[in-house]
Amino acid sequence: MPTQKFHYIDDIFCCHEVPLETIAEQAGTPSYVYSGDAIRENYRAYDRALAGLEHDIHYAVKANSSLGILSLLAEEGAGFDIVSGGELYRVLKAGGDPSRVVFSGVGKTSEELRYALEQEIGRFNCESDGELRLLRELAAQIGRKPEVSLRVNPDIDAETHPYIATGLREHKFGIGLAEAERIYRQAAELHPLRLNGIGCHIGSQIFNIGAFAEALQRVLELAGRLRGFGVPIEALDLGGGLGVEYETGKQSPSIADYGRMLCAALAGANFRLGIEPGRSIVGQAGVLLTRVLYRKAGEGKVFAIVDAAMNDLIRPALYRAHHEVLPVRRSGRPVELTDVVGPVCESGDFLAKGRAMPRAEPGDLLAIATTGAYGFVLSSNYNSRPRAAEALVEGGSVRIVRRREIWEDLIRGEVVCVQA
Ligand code: LLP
Repeated sequence: MPTQKFHYIDDIFCCHEVPLETIAEQAGTPSYVYSGDAIRENYRAYDRALAGLEHDIHYAVKANSSLGILSLLAEEGAGFDIVSGGELYRVLKAGGDPSRVVFSGVGKTSEELRYALEQEIGRFNCESDGELRLLRELAAQIGRKPEVSLRVNPDIDAETHPYIATGLREHKFGIGLAEAERIYRQAAELHPLRLNGIGCHIGSQIFNIGAFAEALQRVLELAGRLRGFGVPIEALDLGGGLGVEYETGKQSPSIADYGRMLCAALAGANFRLGIEPGRSIVGQAGVLLTRVLYRKAGEGKVFAIVDAAMNDLIRPALYRAHHEVLPVRRSGRPVELTDVVGPVCESGDFLAKGRAMPRAEPGDLLAIATTGAYGFVLSSNYNSRPRAAEALVEGGSVRIVRRREIWEDLIRGEVVCVQA
């Protein structure tokens, strides 16, 4: 099932027991709706799956950075994987523990590095020689001794969409294994940095657990060699990337299977394992709720024009991603092939194409499934459209965790220029 905790009760689509119609009345549309219970369960599934290892689960903030969700995960005891100073700011606002934060990313600025050093985050995953040198200089300046990993590029084909594969030599990410080894062997010269970890991340929406196993194997070989040279490698980080089911029937490996592979590969190896899951924690725990504005039937084509658009959810336009479209009220109307499109002035503005779905009528509510990850975070104000609201359902209660933007929000920080 592409969603968790979302189901039909008497032909009405609900989150837990709450009808999405009720949420649409409260929050308006378009709105993202998340199940807090599903998010907690996914986090706990990782924690259980890794119980046999010393481990850290650093939720990848980029997947969904709403304070409502970050605070819930902080309460669960999660750590956080960040890729910008802004994400660190959010984590701290949400009550996250800085000592449980890892900072990834290829292009950290000195301002961001300084902020993270001042907040005494847990670890920096560095991706270049230049970044290491800058971090070292800043750490010395402000008197910190941060723990550091190199993000290596294990040259593994993750067999995913080319835009979200990251582990091949041709990608901008990480440092090649040979170059990394050279840097580690000079680790002593990097004082006050404590270079004692190895990280990698091979891509996202990965279904083949074997690809993770292979990447881990390469990292373990490097760690073994380095320990042999006296480099004290303590922490390994395998990144994120476990895929989720977007289409009914295209079942991803489970968190439990993934955990079993990790436990087997690391048994007795005496490393602390970090992982950075994003999509597999929040993806299936969210839907985008939208209302049909018009039904337009052209020559051989039917369009349902809805009030959500590519600015709210760009995944279909950007990756040709598939998201299931579910009527919030089952109608028994005849099924027709429908393009679900938004009001934005681009032909790329579609949420679904050629879907067999019950005839959509103006006023109907639709749920675009599996949009908890890389949905709201990738949204924009294109066409001067205020960004959507977000609602979080926990048990039977609904909280609006982000109010819908208003037109004033669109011009915040701007000035009008009038010639004198
Ligand atoms: N760690 C690092 C260093 C990453 O770059 C990413 C994702 C993750 C962890 C989390 O990966 P996950 O568990 O969520 O697969 N916008 C794209 C996905 C981009 C992923 C970027 N990096 C999408 O909508 O499919």
